[in-house]
Amino acid sequence: MPELDMSILEKKKLDMLDAYIDTFENKQLNIITILHYAQSVFEYLPKELQLHIARKINMPAVKINGIVSFYSFFSEKPVTKYTVDVCRGTACFVKGAQTLYDIFSQKLNIDEEGISEDGLFSLNSIRCLGACGLGPIVKVNDEIFSHVTNEMVDEIILEYREKEKADENQ
Ligand code: FES
Repeated sequence: MPELDMSILEKKKLDMLDAYIDTFENKQLNIITILHYAQSVFEYLPKELQLHIARKINMPAVKINGIVSFYSFFSEKPVTKYTVDVCRGTACFVKGAQTLYDIFSQKLNIDEEGISEDGLFSLNSIRCLGACGLGPIVKVNDEIFSHVTNEMVDEIILEYREKEKADENQ
C-alpha cells in the first residue's frame, strides 16, 4: 500500500466520507457499506483512499484491498467509457493474446493504472469467456471480437474513436 497522498483526494469529498463513517458505531462491521459510499463519492477506490479508510476504521489496509479486489462491483481504477478486455485464458493465450494485449497497451498509451492517455479506454486481461474456439477474443464493453489478429487492433481502436467523435458531435 502506498503512503496516503492527500493531493489526489479532494478534501471536501474526504470530509463527507469521514462524516459518513462516523455515523457507524461498529465501523469495521459496515466496511462494505462504507466502501459503497466511498465509491459513489469518488467514483472508484484508489489505493490511497483504501488506506485512508483503513486508518479511519482501524482495519488492516490489506484486508480492505482484499474486499475491494474480491467484489466485482468495486473498482480500483477510474471508470472509462470503453473497457477493452483481452481474454488471456489458456486457449486465447496460445493463439497470441499476450501480443494482442501488448499492442493494445502500446497503441492506447496505457499507463500503470491501466488507463489510456486520453482517459477514454481501460485495458484489462480477463479469464476464459467460454468461447475458446473463437479465440483470441477481445471484448470492448459488451461487443465481442473473435479471431482477433494483430492487424485488427488498429481497426478496433478506430471503431471506438469514431464512435466517440460521433457522440461528441451530437
Ligand atoms: S481462453 Fe479465451 S475464450 Fe476461452
